[in-house]
Amino acid sequence: MPKTPDFFQNRTILITGGASGIGHATAAIFAREGANVIVADIDAEGAKTVARELRSSNVGAEAVAVDVTDRTAVDDMIAGGIRKFGQIDYLFNSAGAAGRRASFLDIDAELWRQTYALNVDGVFNTMQSILPHMLDNGYGVIVNIASMAHRRGGPGHSTHYASAKGAVVTLTMGVAREFVDRGIRALSISPGPIDTAFQAISSPELKQRMTDDVPMKRMGTPEEIGEMVLFMCSDGCEFMTADTVYINGGGGFR
Ligand SMILES: NC(=O)c1ccc[n+]([C@@H]2O[C@H](COP(=O)([O-])OP(=O)(O)OC[C@H]3O[C@@H](n4cnc5c(N)ncnc54)[C@H](O)[C@@H]3O)[C@@H](O)[C@H]2O)c1
Repeated sequence: MPKTPDFFQNRTILITGGASGIGHATAAIFAREGANVIVADIDAEGAKTVARELRSSNVGAEAVAVDVTDRTAVDDMIAGGIRKFGQIDYLFNSAGAAGRRASFLDIDAELWRQTYALNVDGVFNTMQSILPHMLDNGYGVIVNIASMAHRRGGPGHSTHYASAKGAVVTLTMGVAREFVDRGIRALSISPGPIDTAFQAISSPELKQRMTDDVPMKRMGTPEEIGEMVLFMCSDGCEFMTADTVYINGGGGFR
């Protein structure tokens, strides 16, 4: 939670992957705090539905259909958001996916390329596109979703995805440290298994193994990630930058 009451009133957050799961839950949490939300997603209808839902709680909300792997589309989205709200204070990169589960020897060139395009290029594109604006303002917080998988390597099913999320952790750290003296903070979150549409690619057996491996014996909720994003962006968290924070019920998937 922020230190100052009404801290988020009239501030603006851009959320990629805002139509579903962690992005959607985070959008609702920021709207609860009075922030404007730009709901960006490749799922145009889903983004519109979420933006409509947020507007009903009396905050500014705008849906943008965007593929984060397309740099021109990302630049247009950020320019449009600035035109609409005047300033974008926070960027939350939630868009991401594992594509499909595959053992290392079964990862083909297309799965490898798509996984890196979405999870790594997407984060690179949005960060590089928004930073000049944040630097002009002398203020901005970026939060990127990595994964607990980056620490375990995803053996047997997700080395493509785990290694891409490792790149997200490192890229976040580098950007945070490069701009640390110019009003910018950047952090990543490494969740354990969270109960969202993301898990549709996991077999019931894999989901059970994941849950069994979590000391709390359950998956996390998207709201449990969204509340951390809120704290990271707030004035209660001003000495924290560069690192990743694990939210995983005490452990994670082996
Ligand atoms: N759910 C988990 O267990 C889990 C664990 C660790 C990390 N994560 C990460 O959390 C993030 C959010 O995932 P989630 O669990 O909310 O899944 P989700 O599938 O519910 O949401 C992902 C959203 O990203 C959007 N998206 C996909 N490709 C896109 C693109 N090219 N451009 C723009 N938007 C795109 C989807 O349409 C969807 O709305 C992802 O980065 C995921 O890798 C999830």
